[in-house]
Amino acid sequence: MDILEKVKELVKEASKLCFKDNLIVESKGSNTNYVTDVDKAVEVFLGERLPKLIDGSRMLGEEGDSIKDASGYVWVVDPIDGTANFIRHFNLSAISVGLFYNTEPTLGVIYNPFTDEMLYSKKGEGAFLNGTPIHVSDRDYNHSTIFTAFSLYDKTQAEPCFNILQRIYYDTDDMRRLGSAALELASLAAGRAELYFEIRIFFWDFAAGLSIISEAGGYYEILNFSEEPIDYNKPYALIAANSKESLEKLKAIVTEEINAWKK
Ligand code: IPD
Ligand code: CA
Ligand code: CA
Repeated sequence: MDILEKVKELVKEASKLCFKDNLIVESKGSNTNYVTDVDKAVEVFLGERLPKLIDGSRMLGEEGDSIKDASGYVWVVDPIDGTANFIRHFNLSAISVGLFYNTEPTLGVIYNPFTDEMLYSKKGEGAFLNGTPIHVSDRDYNHSTIFTAFSLYDKTQAEPCFNILQRIYYDTDDMRRLGSAALELASLAAGRAELYFEIRIFFWDFAAGLSIISEAGGYYEILNFSEEPIDYNKPYALIAANSKESLEKLKAIVTEEINAWKK
């Protein structure tokens, strides 16, 4: 069986763990950041199976240990993206599995068990939603809808997010905040919105989304404001758009506002 099919199957199997009553909810440091027993169980389930699909591959999961270097095949997993939605029964959460080879996205699977929408891609083979090919929209910048968040888990960094959004909002159609970065990136790939930025987001949140966006004809950039090489364990700013022109416009605003705020 093709590797993508195997990953899809494992993710679907893991998603059965999400239908559980009486969640055990714990706080993770900040008072907006939660983890449940289901997040942990999904991560253990995938951690026992994904590395077996490729010899020598390793897995980084949000709830597990960090990994030292970014070389070779690395599975990057968010067992539940949108945990706050999950706890509130919003039905806007997803299991997100990305596969990198030497930091290049090669495969992505994002599955919302509550809507049964699975978005997935493999390098060079296109992106799909439940078997149907997807493509980013062709709306121009001024007719874009933007997804974003306001540095939820470190609100000392919220100010530039509001400044960025204020500048974009007046020139575009509207904004959305789904509470799951993975579902936002997948939705951009499916043509449901055109722009995305978060200034502090981790690899597990976006690993799968990068592959799906590129395969759906979209663009993204991880903005590394440090001199250090990419580290899967650290947060970055991420921008994404349906066109190169819109990505450039977004990048100019995001970098200007972050630099102004840092001064
Ligand atoms: C969070 C969600 C949220 C985004 C945060 C993420 P979690 O992931 O994707 O939409 O704004 O940056 O950390 O904590 O629900 O897995
Ligand atoms: Ca997440
Ligand atoms: Ca998570």
